[in-house]
Amino acid sequence: MENKKRRFAVLTGGGDCPGLNAVIRAVVKTFLQNDCEVYGVINGFNGLVNDNLQLMDYAAVSGILPRGGTILGTTNRDNPFKFAVEENGELVYKDMREKVLENLQKYDIEALVVIGGDGSLNIGAQLARECGVKVVGVPKTIDNDLPCTERTFGFDTAMAMATEALDRLHTTAESHHRVMVLEVMGRYAGWIALHSGIAGGADVILLPEIPYKLDSVIKKIEARKAAGKSFSIVVAAEGAKPEGGEMSVARMVKGSFEPIRLGGIGEKVANAIEEATGIESRCTVLGYLQRGGSPTPYDRVLSTRYGVAAAEACLRGEYNVMVSLYHDQIVTVYIQKAASQPRQVPVDSEIIRTGRQLGMCFGD
Ligand code: F6P
Repeated sequence: MENKKRRFAVLTGGGDCPGLNAVIRAVVKTFLQNDCEVYGVINGFNGLVNDNLQLMDYAAVSGILPRGGTILGTTNRDNPFKFAVEENGELVYKDMREKVLENLQKYDIEALVVIGGDGSLNIGAQLARECGVKVVGVPKTIDNDLPCTERTFGFDTAMAMATEALDRLHTTAESHHRVMVLEVMGRYAGWIALHSGIAGGADVILLPEIPYKLDSVIKKIEARKAAGKSFSIVVAAEGAKPEGGEMSVARMVKGSFEPIRLGGIGEKVANAIEEATGIESRCTVLGYLQRGGSPTPYDRVLSTRYGVAAAEACLRGEYNVMVSLYHDQIVTVYIQKAASQPRQVPVDSEIIRTGRQLGMCFGD
């Protein structure tokens, strides 16, 4: 009788993130080393709907450890349960779960490794819950806002980029006696702003978790001026908002399972500071530089550990879990739990207290 190999599939969903390729490499190598076959799903859940899967071998993952992006492609629009298709020039949403199941069956896939943020992990959890698909999740996002894990891969790289930007902004701010505002990503959580703000020695850090009062920000900048510091550095998370006000929305993305895209708060804060203090102020939006390019060594290691752990969970038949970092060990948690509410910065956390002890202003 033919000895059939166990077959698995791996996909990357949602926004790209440094370390995706390192996870793919680790997943593929672990399966191959254990005499299994593994398919890469192209362009996230789109590939599962549209039958776009590729058999992976060692050559497919060779040399990708330091590479940014994802060799499998990704999209943050395609949800098989609400799949956008054009009909008579209009976008309509269809339930394509049958297509997904058909394709998984066609390739005889035992389980699916979903490398994604909350959107993709939610889809994975729904596939597990409602369709019986066996899923193992890997927590990806530069935002670090997933619950049930102490770290998502990609965050360290984004934080390093933002810190480098702050270092560079410092020298130009000092030379021109300006206020420099750096707007960073992070959606509804302030992890990137907080950590880069501490690492980059910012004077003001604005987070979604602490609605700011413009007066407090102005006071801080004026106090610095009075103390002989003619420049200041402000980091604003894209989700920061004034007390009693709203977050700044840059655009709505049609067809995306989470259509709101934040952006614009940095410019607003810079203008308000200039108007109130008379100090020339400029805003820099760091944007996709936080997501592109090579992962840091920390992210390479974390991504590799996550990838191996996800494949190992599949090999031992432990499904519907997400791999997670807990006390520096890789453990598994129920995917259902991991795909719940985003994890925000606790306002009473030790790291915020650290910033306060240094005299940093959080706008409150
Ligand atoms: O979740 C990652 C992230 O980069 C957020 O920080 C940001 O708000 C969002 O994705 C941007 O999404 P898009 O790539 O659709 O513009």
